[in-house]
Amino acid sequence: QKGGFKHFMLKEISEEDEALANTIYAHIQSDKIELDIDEDLLRNIKKITIVACGTSYYAGLTSKYFFEDLLSIPVSVEIASEFRYSKPIFSDNNIFIAISQSGETADTKESLNLAKALGIKTISIVNVQESTIARLSDYVLYTLAGPEISVASTKAFVCQLAMLYLLALKIAQLKGIDVEDYIKELNSIPPILKSEFNHINSEVEKIAKKYSHVKNFIYLGRGLSYPLGLEGALKLKEISYIHAEGYPAGELKHGPIALIDKSTPTFVIAPGIEPFYSKTISNANEVKARDGKIILLSEKYSYIADDFIESPKVSYFFSAFINIVPLQLFAYHIANILGNDVDQPRNLAKSVTVE
Ligand code: F6R
Repeated sequence: QKGGFKHFMLKEISEEDEALANTIYAHIQSDKIELDIDEDLLRNIKKITIVACGTSYYAGLTSKYFFEDLLSIPVSVEIASEFRYSKPIFSDNNIFIAISQSGETADTKESLNLAKALGIKTISIVNVQESTIARLSDYVLYTLAGPEISVASTKAFVCQLAMLYLLALKIAQLKGIDVEDYIKELNSIPPILKSEFNHINSEVEKIAKKYSHVKNFIYLGRGLSYPLGLEGALKLKEISYIHAEGYPAGELKHGPIALIDKSTPTFVIAPGIEPFYSKTISNANEVKARDGKIILLSEKYSYIADDFIESPKVSYFFSAFINIVPLQLFAYHIANILGNDVDQPRNLAKSVTVE
């Protein structure tokens, strides 16, 4: 069942190229994005509200950068347990998107009901067919990640992100924006993940061995690498039980830098794009100056790295699909080294149907 892997989590991370390929290729027909959503609705969108919990929330947060850059439409991304008790302000041509792997998360479901009660058109991005959230929404986009058994969500994240990118690209096409290069690059991601997986996995495992004794971890990134850092920190907390926090790199000096010492390492996610790369490296330097160890994830090496994970070169918006993999693998290997029950971490359930 685990296909030769020790845990479902590792198997599911290794399946990300295939899960992503299934999700992407099912919706692209000769350079046209095909989604089963009313085109007039998409063409006229003025604002998008995305609501989800946990890893699904971070997929939404990561996609915001792409949506806003490509479409110049405001995107707000909200945590479902907060949104459902809020008084959201919607106007004409606003849409609501719920993201949920299981399609059963109570707070996400109630947020969807709230949006519906306010008369807003709803789209859900779910992985489990015929789930409650899928049935309740006006339109459903299924991620084709296949069943996710490990409690910690991995392959669902990349598929949710792909689905959000496909939606952004579809809206762009309807607005007459040329997205040919983006579609080409999206198509190119699954083969890159496939060919790089073994190498990245063994590199990350080596590094994880050096850090498995650590009690506190900081994750830093700018732009879309910031929510990726939040997701990396969540993965580490969930399965290794190590305290980890993600911050926008520029926030470091506004407080979190007080945490840095030689026993608190920092995982820095820094795609090569300027000005993000130089600014992030300069934040990493501040960590280094306080004896903090640096794990650098980038396609561009810097001397500040105590450990360097070289990521394959892709353009900025697509770096999220690539850089999430070492973050997931890092949490996996640390949890495995610590002898934890990786697939069934303590206190957690796969589907959270209570609020
Ligand atoms: C993290 C994790 C949780 C879920 C969250 C939402 O690894 O599994 O944070 O992402 O409970 O679940 P879904 O996507 O099923 O609504």
